[in-house]
Amino acid sequence: MKGLILSGGKGTRLYPLTYTRAKQLIPVANKPILVRVIESIRDAGIHDIGVVIGETGPEVREALGDGKQWGVNIVYIPQDSPDGLAHAVKISRDFLGDDRFVMFLGDNVIEGGVDHLVDEFSRNNWNSQIVLKEVENASAYGVAKLRDDGSIEQLIEKPPHPPSNLALVGIYMFDHHIFEAVNAIQPSARGELEITDAIQWLIDQDYAVFPHVHQGWWIDTGKPTDMLEANSYVLDELLTDMPVEARVSPDATISSDSQIDSRVIVERGAQIVDSVIRGPAIIGEDTVVENSYIGPFSSLYHHVTIENCEIERCIILEHSTISDLGIRLADSLIGRHVTLKRGDKKPAALRMNLGDHSRVWVI
Ligand code: TTP
Repeated sequence: MKGLILSGGKGTRLYPLTYTRAKQLIPVANKPILVRVIESIRDAGIHDIGVVIGETGPEVREALGDGKQWGVNIVYIPQDSPDGLAHAVKISRDFLGDDRFVMFLGDNVIEGGVDHLVDEFSRNNWNSQIVLKEVENASAYGVAKLRDDGSIEQLIEKPPHPPSNLALVGIYMFDHHIFEAVNAIQPSARGELEITDAIQWLIDQDYAVFPHVHQGWWIDTGKPTDMLEANSYVLDELLTDMPVEARVSPDATISSDSQIDSRVIVERGAQIVDSVIRGPAIIGEDTVVENSYIGPFSSLYHHVTIENCEIERCIILEHSTISDLGIRLADSLIGRHVTLKRGDKKPAALRMNLGDHSRVWVI
């Protein structure tokens, strides 16, 4: 089998972060989502991976290279414009050939990996297997209607009256018949070749399409709140089975007056001075935390500085500095090279220098 990761798209819902960075490279628990996707495909025994790239292609190529670092071979497949998930499959034909493949959206994070799914698909003669998840508000998703034999009868996009509570998760498995489908369908009203239309075409031609109902959590990281939620889940998963002591790199420094919980990772070169860190949390390489409180579900990436602050359930990206806020910063996603501090200039006022589409809540 081969792997196909979709890492094109625009990422408009994550502006302004995605003006300057591919959303799939934003780290969750200090590891880019795309790297998590590659590792889970590799752990399912698949080593040939095609990555569909768009405008942010150069950055994705630089981050992943030829994939050797993760023990896989990566081939890049440029997509001129984000014309839909089925379009991404269409342009990947040369790479995929007649092999069966797993397609994974490069901005999705799923609990427990995909080895059992890939295994199930390779043991059956199905033409496609799609991953479904029980959700509460099914009318916000693509929803599947199943037949009595468990196969899929119909996929409906955002139905007002959903026939089930089973929503499509961004992981799909196909054999080569999917190319007939993507060549047969027409663009949807929003101008994209939709993967749901392609799968429906397979069903209508009597190809066997079966579901796998995923039991764990799954997050499509479209919006900042999704990123924070994914970060919380991954930190929880990562640190649940940890030994009773924090995992501190031998060359990190921790002052004797600091308190570090057991469910905390402190990476190379980090310095923790006179601070309290409550897990699950991760403190990145060469990051400095001084006279501060870092609360649960926080990920500080590398070269971050936190001074005289309280922070909880935040993702702070590299080279950002937060100091002297005088109020706890919570539930926030902070980009790269950001400075956030209390100033002492008169008159006392909020002074901001924010990019387009930034959002700030002031109390
Ligand atoms: P989406 O989240 O549907 O689209 P997007 O990334 O453009 O985000 P937004 O809606 O905020 O503008 O895409 C899901 C994944 O598939 C994501 O990793 C981008 C990728 N993708 C492609 O590679 N090619 C495409 O044509 C599309 C539509 C998405």
